[in-house]
Amino acid sequence: MSASTQDFDAENFIALQTEEIKRVLGKERAIIAVSGGVDSTTCASLTRRAIGKNLECLFIDTGFMRRGEPERVKKNLAKAPLGLPLRIISARKRFMDSLQGLADAEDKRKAFRETFYSTLAEAARKGGCKWLVQGTIAADLIETEGGIKTQHNVLSQIGIDPKEKYGFKVVEPLATIYKPQVRILSRILGFPEETSERQPFPGPGLMVRCVAAVSTGKLKSLKIATDIVEKGLKDLGAQQYFAAVIDNDPSGGSEAEDLKAVSNMLGQNETTRIKTLPNLATGICESRRTYGKIAAIQVFPISKRQAERMFVKSHSICKDVLAANPAYSRLLFEIKRLPGSRSYAAVIRAIRTVDFMTAKAPVIPWKVLDRISSKILVECRNVSSVYYDLTPKPPATIEFE
Ligand code: XMP
Repeated sequence: MSASTQDFDAENFIALQTEEIKRVLGKERAIIAVSGGVDSTTCASLTRRAIGKNLECLFIDTGFMRRGEPERVKKNLAKAPLGLPLRIISARKRFMDSLQGLADAEDKRKAFRETFYSTLAEAARKGGCKWLVQGTIAADLIETEGGIKTQHNVLSQIGIDPKEKYGFKVVEPLATIYKPQVRILSRILGFPEETSERQPFPGPGLMVRCVAAVSTGKLKSLKIATDIVEKGLKDLGAQQYFAAVIDNDPSGGSEAEDLKAVSNMLGQNETTRIKTLPNLATGICESRRTYGKIAAIQVFPISKRQAERMFVKSHSICKDVLAANPAYSRLLFEIKRLPGSRSYAAVIRAIRTVDFMTAKAPVIPWKVLDRISSKILVECRNVSSVYYDLTPKPPATIEFE
């Protein structure tokens, strides 16, 4: 099936899949991990129709959800019309421990996946469940098979036998359809808008945006910054908007000698500095994942008007700068910083996109960015600078990972 919604017969899909789930699972018990996102919630709702109370719905609290999310999701899903009872499994320490010593984005995804499935396997054993139902969609399979990224919910397609390794068989009722089609199903199933139109959130949650090595302090700042950015950008028409937290270089970041020409492009040599930040970030080039350096433009103004002008100019040269410097996957613009250096920096990311395969970072009004940044610097006690990510996809990915 294609991602087009034009020929998608949702009623028929629901009827067929309900019958198919009944046929495959019979009288056996199954579990599903629901995150509150549209894919897993739709999948749980369909399966519940098919096998009723033989489906046990779990919310695995990995610690990498947004502030208050486990309780909020549990409450919302329990309400009519969904009426899905969720059991929260607390596994925060287990996930944090499994990520210790890891900084590479793919290594982190793999460790997360292993902990996720081991936790599920234990729950399945205790609940006498022979099946795991998953809301995997077509894009997850394509991206994993294409080597774009490790999806935390893809197993057999990459040679892992779930029965042998974790003790359950897997069924994936949404594996042939795409996100826009899942949203149609969820509207028909009567989901509140908050669920059916929810912006995408990666399977491994905030782990992805807690860039490089994860720590409790970094994650705490990320949760606060996420709250501030989600509230501050919600009315600006972006399809996805969030915060990431990266490491700060105590020396303020080394001058990016290779990007010196950028200062000339900005025409403001004496008031501009281009630095290389200490982490790497994901990008995409010809459908393959890349892992590149992060550059940041720092201006020493000046008035707010001058800063805004430089921001707009930097935005306009971003694509050319990165095309000429393929070792870099991101170009950031520093919005605000405090004197002295704390451990971390926050990145604001917003994107406009139709299909999530390509995306643009819009020019957000300076006063909005300025306000959000000030709030982050006050509330995140170990963050001392805030950047905006100017980079389109490609060469960056949407996630700041
Ligand atoms: P990227 O960062 O690859 O993201 O340009 C494209 C879209 O996919 C979302 N995303 C994920 N969704 N599991 C998901 O279900 C994941 O592991 C994952 N990683 C990224 C991302 O938020 C964007 O909407």
